[in-house]
Amino acid sequence: MSRPVSRRQLLGAAGAAAGGFVVGGVVGPLAAGGTGADDDPAPRADATAVAFHGAHQAGVATAPQAHVVLAGVDIAGSAAELAAVLDTWSVAAARLTAGAQVGERSPSSRLPPVDTGEADDRPPSRLTVTVAVGASAFDRSDRFGLAARRPPGLVELPAVAGDDLDPRFSGGDLCLQVGADDLQVALHAVRNLVRVAEGRASVRWSHVGTGPPPGAAPVVGDGASSHRNLLGFREGTANPRPGRPRFDDAVWVAEGDDPSWMVGGTYLALRRVDLDLGAWEELTLLDRERVIGRHRRSGAPLGDVAEDAPLELEAEGPDGRPVTDPRSHVAVAHRASQGRRPLFRRSYNVVEGIPQAEGAGAGGLLFLAFCRDPAEQFTPVLEALAAGDLLGTYQRTVASGVFAVLPGLRPGDSWSQHLFG
Ligand code: HEM
Repeated sequence: MSRPVSRRQLLGAAGAAAGGFVVGGVVGPLAAGGTGADDDPAPRADATAVAFHGAHQAGVATAPQAHVVLAGVDIAGSAAELAAVLDTWSVAAARLTAGAQVGERSPSSRLPPVDTGEADDRPPSRLTVTVAVGASAFDRSDRFGLAARRPPGLVELPAVAGDDLDPRFSGGDLCLQVGADDLQVALHAVRNLVRVAEGRASVRWSHVGTGPPPGAAPVVGDGASSHRNLLGFREGTANPRPGRPRFDDAVWVAEGDDPSWMVGGTYLALRRVDLDLGAWEELTLLDRERVIGRHRRSGAPLGDVAEDAPLELEAEGPDGRPVTDPRSHVAVAHRASQGRRPLFRRSYNVVEGIPQAEGAGAGGLLFLAFCRDPAEQFTPVLEALAAGDLLGTYQRTVASGVFAVLPGLRPGDSWSQHLFG
């Protein structure tokens, strides 16, 4: 048997060579040469490829994909290791997004292939790789020398009613959000990004979620567009719409915000919520709609027919009582959001086994919200919901955290430049 070869040997050259691989957003041919048996076929320009480079990372304003893999990643070592991982991922993520393998092919079929290969022959499937940094990367022990650069937006979330946090799902120096319309493409990307980080990065926790079907229209309100959670209700109705000024103002860290190196980035607030689906399924339709504060099928405000009709919380029925219960999820969240920039929610369903009233299966929501300032936009809404949301009875939160989503990259740049300056 031949002597094992470290992936570092394989990938060192590959990482450097692959930087110019995607040119101006158009997929170009792979570096020339090589007729190894395991050649990576040159990716073709493909309508399912999402542009990787730009002021912002993809995977935030991108219409939600059918699947997401979210992983908390720990870094072994010091600043050099963290920078190396980010440098490698800056190149590898661009390649994967374009539908290529994670690195240049191995120079010889006598070496282990660089890529595990299970995404070969599949289109990019709107793959996006979004990289974010956790509070532990800036912690007081200052492993990475970053303590003084901690963004004020990277807040600790308060403990709230309904929290049942599982330490196995908390923390992470980095967070990878990988979305794709093909689950195998998403899982392949996470697996290979961790592999090429070569013993420096290890997965601390992960969640796999399902989103809207491929091809769903990205805009809510047209009936066919929205995504439904496991309660059967439409998700994302009241969101700001990507491409509109209100979205940009609410989501992206902008000039004048602190720190300047986060400009173009955003913050991810994450809550992994387990839902008590057994108790929920015992509720009548009317009670379910009262708890949420919207009609189940249409997503319209109660008493209305259009999903995008404005929420009139003051409206009263013939009995003089509010049409929408003031303790409903939507009423509490809406009131707590007044006068603030809105959150942009991009949540996915999570299922373990088949959820059933009596049994081992569990289901819930991987609540993902992006915002420019979590202390201003997220924490007050979280606290208001924990204090008085009817939905609270049916949920417990097992994971929680905030991550700083780094700005987007120009071709040839690395996320380590943003983080370390
Ligand atoms: C158990 C987990 C949750 C479920 C099942 C859930 C479900 C929903 C549903 C069905 C809607 C109405 C449609 C829409 O606009 O998307 C909604 C709205 C909303 N939710 Fe949640 N949600 C959950 C957790 C949260 C959390 C943790 C937050 C923030 C801390 C939050 C904040 C909001 C906001 C801001 C709205 C929009 C309210 C408005 O109309 O202005 N939700 N949610």
